[in-house]
Amino acid sequence: MKKYVFLDLSRLNAPYLDEMKAAACRVIDSGRYIGGKEVEDFENELAAYVGTRYAVGVSNGLDALRLIFRAYKILGRLHEGDYVALPANTYIASALAVTDNGLNIVAIRNDENYNLDSKRLSECKDVDIKAVMPVHLYGRTCWDSILQQTKDNAIIVEDNAQGIGATTADGRKTGSLGHAAAISFYPTKNLGALGDAGAVTTDDEEIAAIVRALANYGSDRRYHNIYQGFNCRLDPIQAAMLRVKLRHIDEENARRQAVADVYCSHIENKGIILPANDGRSVWHQFVVGCVDRDGFRRYLAENGVETDVNYPLPFFNQPCYSATDIAVSDVDNKVTAELCDSIVSLPIAHTTLQEAHEISEIINRYKAS
Ligand SMILES: Cc1ncc(COP(=O)(O)O)c(C=O)c1O
Repeated sequence: MKKYVFLDLSRLNAPYLDEMKAAACRVIDSGRYIGGKEVEDFENELAAYVGTRYAVGVSNGLDALRLIFRAYKILGRLHEGDYVALPANTYIASALAVTDNGLNIVAIRNDENYNLDSKRLSECKDVDIKAVMPVHLYGRTCWDSILQQTKDNAIIVEDNAQGIGATTADGRKTGSLGHAAAISFYPTKNLGALGDAGAVTTDDEEIAAIVRALANYGSDRRYHNIYQGFNCRLDPIQAAMLRVKLRHIDEENARRQAVADVYCSHIENKGIILPANDGRSVWHQFVVGCVDRDGFRRYLAENGVETDVNYPLPFFNQPCYSATDIAVSDVDNKVTAELCDSIVSLPIAHTTLQEAHEISEIINRYKAS
């Protein structure tokens, strides 16, 4: 039986192998293994791509988020106990960055695009929300006129871990929409490193400078520490890999869009809910809804199609959080929990158009019991 692999990272990187090997040799030969030109060049190229004045390379996406919130606290624009709104449907890292900084979570229910429902955000009057974290989940842009207006009254920190290259209707890129944004280059991401890596993008000079210092033991110059910082730097070897792949990110995202187009136009099974296809998502995941998730996944596995679930348990139901950790004012937890029970991610990362047609046909033959 033919296998439709969900994700094989070596297959994902194969087209860039020669360029990546040459870049790795360049770093090894340079003798510079922390900081330096490789990281600076990547930061400049990333800022130019996203459309922000600054990009600061850091160790991973969670640290990028954590450092942004820490920087706002240092600047006195956020204080211990302040309320931060984020979508109930997200990866746990979004929530961890907030609670790690002594801030309170307001979980907002998702809309039909699986993203934060900005209307529900604007109706949420129980607490004074000081910051909002739109998450471009699955690579779907989370931005609209309500969030644009919210930007005047609240700090907007984008969780752009999954969204690099996604755009708004007027062509702006995620990562440049709020006041600051975090990107993850975890190896499975559309722009994935060969290990952990991340970045902060922003137009705010102060935030960029504080994040940069915090990521380097809190120092603004050698052996001079102005903050109690961390070691959260981006390695030059990862920067070199990312420079190669950044040059190809638009092709990579276009390839994913072509696969999504096949799925969206060929899956006709009434029992499967397809995501909206507005041409602005970068399809980090292709997520469909279904009634009997286990049965659907079993059927697909029996037909050689590997799937995943992103994510099976909402963060607020994880053992690390108790009800008191989350100032749930708006969200009906049950709705998000039910959503988490009904979603399935189909292969997309290196799926060919032919494979997407075949998977669509397999899905069209599925009969929910
Ligand atoms: C939505 C979201 N936020 C944050 C992160 C954290 O990124 P990292 O794994 O690089 O720490 C991830 C990564 O998986 C993510 O998917």
